[in-house]
Amino acid sequence: MIQMIIDFAFKIIVVVAVFHLSKTLGGVTSIVDGNPLDTIKHELDNLTFIDQRLSVVYPLIQKFKNRIISDPLNITKSWVGSDICSYTGFYCDNPPDNLTAITLASIDFNGFQLTAPTLDGFLDQLPDLALFHANSNFFSGTISSNIAKLPYLYELDLSNNLFSGPFPSSILGMNTLSFLDIRFNLFTGSIPPQLFTKDLDILFVNNNNFIQKLTEILGSSHIFYLTLANNKFYGPIPGSIAKYFSGLSEVLLLNNMLSGCLPYELGFLTETVVFDAGYNLLTGPMPFSLGCLKKAEVVNFAGNLLYGGVPEVVCAMANLANLSLSDNYFVQVGPICRGLIKKGVLDVRNNCIRGQPEQRSAVECMAFFSKRKYCSYKQTYHLPCLSPGFSDSPMGLVVLLAEVVVKEVELQSRF
Ligand SMILES: *[C@@H]1O[C@H](CO)[C@@H](O)[C@H](O)[C@H]1NC(C)=O
Repeated sequence: MIQMIIDFAFKIIVVVAVFHLSKTLGGVTSIVDGNPLDTIKHELDNLTFIDQRLSVVYPLIQKFKNRIISDPLNITKSWVGSDICSYTGFYCDNPPDNLTAITLASIDFNGFQLTAPTLDGFLDQLPDLALFHANSNFFSGTISSNIAKLPYLYELDLSNNLFSGPFPSSILGMNTLSFLDIRFNLFTGSIPPQLFTKDLDILFVNNNNFIQKLTEILGSSHIFYLTLANNKFYGPIPGSIAKYFSGLSEVLLLNNMLSGCLPYELGFLTETVVFDAGYNLLTGPMPFSLGCLKKAEVVNFAGNLLYGGVPEVVCAMANLANLSLSDNYFVQVGPICRGLIKKGVLDVRNNCIRGQPEQRSAVECMAFFSKRKYCSYKQTYHLPCLSPGFSDSPMGLVVLLAEVVVKEVELQSRF
């Protein structure tokens, strides 16, 4: 009981302290003395606005300003008077429905470090807003379903805040949205598959706590830029991957919980410059088809459970600048790959490759290879593209294939 009273008293002290802090920081209109809404209404009577649309948003801004509990950069100091278009972070323009009117068209709070418990009653009430960027603040709470009623909003950036709870499904109702960035928040649960059928060009959902099967979120998406890294997506990479990521120059799947064998169809990601599936639970041999990623510069499979030989055709890719295969169970590299190791392009540390430095111990390799492998080699050596020196001489492939098989038989008998 006494503990409860102490806790309660402590909470009151914190609340009062926060209010005083907010009064000293950024000249926030007083919350404790009198009713702030009355104050705002009173101010409104004495102000003249260049457009009636601005007088509508004025009280919303002031109400939001009252909710800000920390403003270390003194941003809100400029949020006074009728000239909303000159407030720091606020930008005016002509609305699409009336090109002679002036309205609040975009908000850019990027890096302002503002703390507020919610954006409800603010963001979702600004009728002409086209862009809302609020990267790197301390906004939290949930996103109001009213956001779907904003007719012009097409860019929404809430990245690097403290939003939590399930994916804000109200976003699904926004028909104009083309850019959605909710990276670096604390969202959990799953992403509704409908999101991927929307007309989004860019979608960043990385660095949240989404837990979901990868195959569930790959709908009929034609998103131009999609990042899924650093969540808890699980399950295999589907063979249909190229259909979903075909236009993407960066496929970022790193730091999830993806498992299963690598699909042959990865070789159809012909536009991919960066393919990063590092630190998952992917297994199986590396398909030769990866050698068809003609634009690939960075390929990362480090920290998985891949085994077999590193295909020479992959090491032979013309634009390759960084191939990370460390922390797997590869057993062999050919001459082209060895050349890349020398140049510092290919990293094979902590594998099971005899003759290479910094490999796993024989015991570790033995333990891995003694477990049953279920990935089929059926399409591993199939090359769906022309690759100079490889498709020209299928014998080269056959020889390499034989080498790898011999090597693995050798290894398995060795362990
Ligand atoms: C290559 O990529 C890996 C993983 O993406 C990264 O950790 C490493 O620093 C890169 N190496 C070079 C030399 O750029």
